[in-house]
Amino acid sequence: MTTLSTLNKFKKDGTKFTCLTCYDAMFARMMEKAQIDTILIGDSLGMVVQGHDSTLPVTVDDMAYHTANVARSNKQALILADLPFMSYVTLPEAIANSRKLMQAGAHVIKIEGGSELCDLVTTLAQAGTPTCVHLGLTPQSVNVFGGYKVQGRGDEAGQKLLDDAKAVVNAGAALLVLECVPAALAKAVTEAVAVPVIGIGAGADTDGQVLVMHDMLGMVHGRAPRFVHDFLTDERNTEHSIEGAFALYQQSVKEGSFPKEQHQFS
Ligand code: KIV
Repeated sequence: MTTLSTLNKFKKDGTKFTCLTCYDAMFARMMEKAQIDTILIGDSLGMVVQGHDSTLPVTVDDMAYHTANVARSNKQALILADLPFMSYVTLPEAIANSRKLMQAGAHVIKIEGGSELCDLVTTLAQAGTPTCVHLGLTPQSVNVFGGYKVQGRGDEAGQKLLDDAKAVVNAGAALLVLECVPAALAKAVTEAVAVPVIGIGAGADTDGQVLVMHDMLGMVHGRAPRFVHDFLTDERNTEHSIEGAFALYQQSVKEGSFPKEQHQFS
């Protein structure tokens, strides 16, 4: 079974690892078969499962329901679950909502933001709850950003993201996710922190990679983001199957053939 210790060893050894979003039992079982290292019950379920335009309408109960469905169906992967929008503004509600997701089967709680999360990260770590801090394009802040845009471009923004990453790791964060940031910045963050860093649209130099499952199966509403590859129709998926797509993703990340330069931002 994959644990945080496994991921820390992967980082030390330079072994790349995989993460995919997952929201239900059948896909969780298929991911177990493909040996996907970590699974994220992402609040992206608001868009790909519930049909909303953003992640904002997702509730803690939604997250707990999908986390339980996945956790009972995959006993091998490390399971990360998102605390949804506005569910961790105060420490007491963050603690209560983290408890719900951990009791539903999560091993790690993912939260979006920067150094303002330090107190929460430390409190949860002391209470036996590891956190993964999501930096860069944090979709819960889409209305602050004015759209889904690359973050951390330019010296000042890049330095701020690097400082935020170091601060949350010093506070006790166990993992980081970097979304849609220049590849050079993602490399600098990955080298600067001792914990494993998972990238999405962050280039090839992070320790792990994550994609939204629907995206990597070619099920995209509108235009596919630049960092997505369709592993279902990839000619190397000779079975043309979903299980084959998961296995090919696993193989491609491990061997370093995904992501390529065309998937990254500068
Ligand atoms: O909710 C989600 O699926 C995510 C990934 C994009 C990292 O946060």
